[in-house]
Amino acid sequence: MKAEKSGGRPPNAKPRSSFSGRLGYVLAVAGSAVGLGNIWRFPYLAAKYGGGIFLLVYLILMLTFGYALIVSETALGRMTKRSPVGAFHAFGRGRAFSFGGWMNAIIPMVIVSYYCAIGGWVTKYLFEYLRGSTATLANDNYFPDFIAESASAEFWFVLFSLAVLVVLLAGVKQGVERVSKVMMPLLVLLAIFVAGYAVTRPGAMEGVKYLLIPNLENFSWMTVVAAMGQMFYSLSIAMGILYTYGSYMKKEVDIEKSTYQVGIFDTGIAILAGLMIIPAVFAFSGGAPETLNAGPSLMFITIPKVFASMGFGTGAGLMFFLLVFMAALTSAISLAESGVSTFEDQLGLSRTKAILLMGAIILLLGSASSMGFGVLSGLTLLGMTVLDFLDFLANSLMMPVAALATCLLVTRVVGLDKIAQEVEQSSAFRGKRLYGFFMKYLAPVFILVVLLSSIANVLGWISM
Ligand code: PHE
Repeated sequence: MKAEKSGGRPPNAKPRSSFSGRLGYVLAVAGSAVGLGNIWRFPYLAAKYGGGIFLLVYLILMLTFGYALIVSETALGRMTKRSPVGAFHAFGRGRAFSFGGWMNAIIPMVIVSYYCAIGGWVTKYLFEYLRGSTATLANDNYFPDFIAESASAEFWFVLFSLAVLVVLLAGVKQGVERVSKVMMPLLVLLAIFVAGYAVTRPGAMEGVKYLLIPNLENFSWMTVVAAMGQMFYSLSIAMGILYTYGSYMKKEVDIEKSTYQVGIFDTGIAILAGLMIIPAVFAFSGGAPETLNAGPSLMFITIPKVFASMGFGTGAGLMFFLLVFMAALTSAISLAESGVSTFEDQLGLSRTKAILLMGAIILLLGSASSMGFGVLSGLTLLGMTVLDFLDFLANSLMMPVAALATCLLVTRVVGLDKIAQEVEQSSAFRGKRLYGFFMKYLAPVFILVVLLSSIANVLGWISM
């Protein structure tokens, strides 16, 4: 206890556990990073916002902002040994610090609620493949009809959320991490197999070209806004997650190298998912703009068509949705865990109470998201369904603010030198000068421009 106090941690902080080494760290972060963001969200955004040009913008953003922010958050977490609210407070106490910390802490709470609604859809599909409804699922109207029927969508959402909460209550997080180490390679293999099948369908090549070859004609400012939100979402940036993981990281682990590895792995899976889904849109629906713009429903509409058309389709569908289910479950658990630990540390709640509070938030916001396509379809916020609105709120509005807070904390308060010292504890900081440039000039200006343009866009001042 004494050692903890001298470290200045909140009184109820437990001794920190740590990852075994770089591999352990990379696998744990990859397990949290790879989820619905890669398999469900990336393909539909890439389809909607220009294909190859979206991918190109995404890669550029990842190598600049993504890299700089991951390094910053990890280093801040490892330096302070705390989660975001505590980490911000370690450097000062004013309102600005509380705001920055809480911004990072609240985002995962917003995301996890609608994440569970989509987790519910995945669970429903898994169940249907178990029953062998392969042909029915491939029907164009199956998905819209399913989500419009609120009682059913709500049932699967509650089921998925309960699974998340039960795992948290049982405290088997360690076990979950072990599961994800087995699951991740399986997911990669299956994704390669399904993508291989999808891209060889007649007409699918157009889709491969659409995804991989940038076409400037498809560029709009919205491409940048969407790519930036997706990069944060997929890499779990600006949600307090990396602060927390960094606080579990040993001093000898190379921060830069592990950042690259996580980035490559996460992007690789997203591109594979894109190759499963977008060529299928072209092969099965001729690449019609309405389908490309399908948004959140894209994965649920095109993937079942691929399975229905192939031999062993039911088995493949079952495997696919099982893996997506597990990827979604592990990510949802780590999102919810981040909220729970914030409640424990900052509100002094017991673990059970913190989990119940998290559960109540999930139930409230998640139900609204899940019923937003049925009984609540009249309820739109700024012209969006509840699910789309929460996604927009978290990714396009709150995340830029949280990322900006981290930039300002690093450049104005902590100082670039201290971050460099932290990184250099384990290795030379190869990208130090570029890192400084990104954090000081590029990132804040760019984040601000993106934030203002997404606000202007919703308010209808500009159309993108
Ligand atoms: N990055 C995850 C995904 O791509 C979402 C997530 C964010 C999970 C933060 C955990 C923590 O789905």
